[in-house]
Amino acid sequence: MKGTYLIRTFGCQMNEHDSERIGGMLRADGMTPTAEVADARVVVLNTCAIRENADNKLYGNLGHLKPLKAENPDLRIVVAGCLAQKDQGLIQQKAPWVDVVVGTHALPHLLDLLRRAEDEGPQMDIAEYTELFPSALPAARNDAFRAWVSIAVGCDNACTFCIVPFVRGAQRSRAIGDVLAEVQGLARDGVVEVTLLGQNVNTYGRDVTVPGTSRRPLFAELLRQVNEVEGLRRIRFTSPHPHDFTPDVIEAMAESEKVCEHIHFPMQSGSDPVLRAMQRSYRRERYLGWLDRIRDGIPGVGVSTDIIVGFPGETDADFADTLDAVSRARFDSAYTFQYSPRPGTRAASMPDQLPKEVVQERFERLVSLQERISLEKARAQVGTETEVLVEGAGRRGASSQSRTRTNRIVHLQGALDPGTFVTARITDAAPHHLSGEVVPAPALV
Ligand code: 5AD
Ligand code: SF4
Repeated sequence: MKGTYLIRTFGCQMNEHDSERIGGMLRADGMTPTAEVADARVVVLNTCAIRENADNKLYGNLGHLKPLKAENPDLRIVVAGCLAQKDQGLIQQKAPWVDVVVGTHALPHLLDLLRRAEDEGPQMDIAEYTELFPSALPAARNDAFRAWVSIAVGCDNACTFCIVPFVRGAQRSRAIGDVLAEVQGLARDGVVEVTLLGQNVNTYGRDVTVPGTSRRPLFAELLRQVNEVEGLRRIRFTSPHPHDFTPDVIEAMAESEKVCEHIHFPMQSGSDPVLRAMQRSYRRERYLGWLDRIRDGIPGVGVSTDIIVGFPGETDADFADTLDAVSRARFDSAYTFQYSPRPGTRAASMPDQLPKEVVQERFERLVSLQERISLEKARAQVGTETEVLVEGAGRRGASSQSRTRTNRIVHLQGALDPGTFVTARITDAAPHHLSGEVVPAPALV
């Protein structure tokens, strides 16, 4: 197809990764990207289903596209991602101007679907399974210096609040050799930072074997092997699961110099009864014990988390336990969510769904506690010097945004080249970012 495309991505890094593949396929087919929806021949909405507001956003966006389609019948509208997999035929029922619905397992069929839509009208593919990993598709990456690398798709857990297993299926790991080959290729192309992606990276390899053996590859082993790739400077990964976490991952992180000192470690709740009802098999003390071991093993490690407030049946005492766990854990940052019932999940049909006001009030208390902790932890960085990777332009004037190995954002003066490493001296702190100045490199004598 000729012409321009625009992709809007919602949700998590897995969707960012898939969007780069969608762009790669469209580009391989002869299309070019545009930032203007009015110029686009193909608009792709790559959707998220994790919470209800993500759902509502899709239908709002489709409403905005309707008049454009009426003006320009050549416009092709594609809905991809988790909501495509969840809502399936409902999307074209509610918005008949959508040309293609492509589910999470059907991405490799996107170009065929678009072609068929030209002759036959609206298409949908919500296959339950495909052999091909999206990683095998061509990619149009947003940044030349960093890349997402999928190590596994899907999830074998059944957290009672979560829709992911329904829309992304059971876990499938990629062969270790395929992951390494992709990372080596990226490093040859100048990529300096990779983020390894999986819903639960600790169970990576459970469903594959190391070639020539009957042994299962382990995540720690994968980290160590990726660490050997020449040219690469930083390795990140997301997300580990406290239930399947093992000490060999701490050792591999500590001993692999390219693996960044940051871990995203979703706690979800600090109350044991709520964790049980969520079907998260660890308990608060075990979680906090892991944090101590991680911090002992990896000095200076940055820790972020996910927390859900207002899970069905959460009492004042349960919530007090979450506040207490947050005070003890001292996360550098936390993504806090109000519980949102997802159709088909066990929690959605549990009794004792909480009133919105109760959830809102608890949420605000949690956010203000965490903001205070985040600020205290950020302030402790003032005066330090640290290596940062420049990621792009800052929000104001001639400034740049960069990131520490511990995953803190640092705003710097001056327009610096994305993809370069500099040393920053931290001069100021806010809960969600630091400010700093570049320390000139010493002259070589
Ligand atoms: N309601 C609120 N938050 C949710 N998450 C997942 N499902 C729900 C839900 N139904 C949060 C979890 C998860 C993060 C990606 O989104 O905290 O770790
Ligand atoms: Fe959802 Fe739990 Fe799987 Fe994470 S581990 S994707 S929260 S089911």
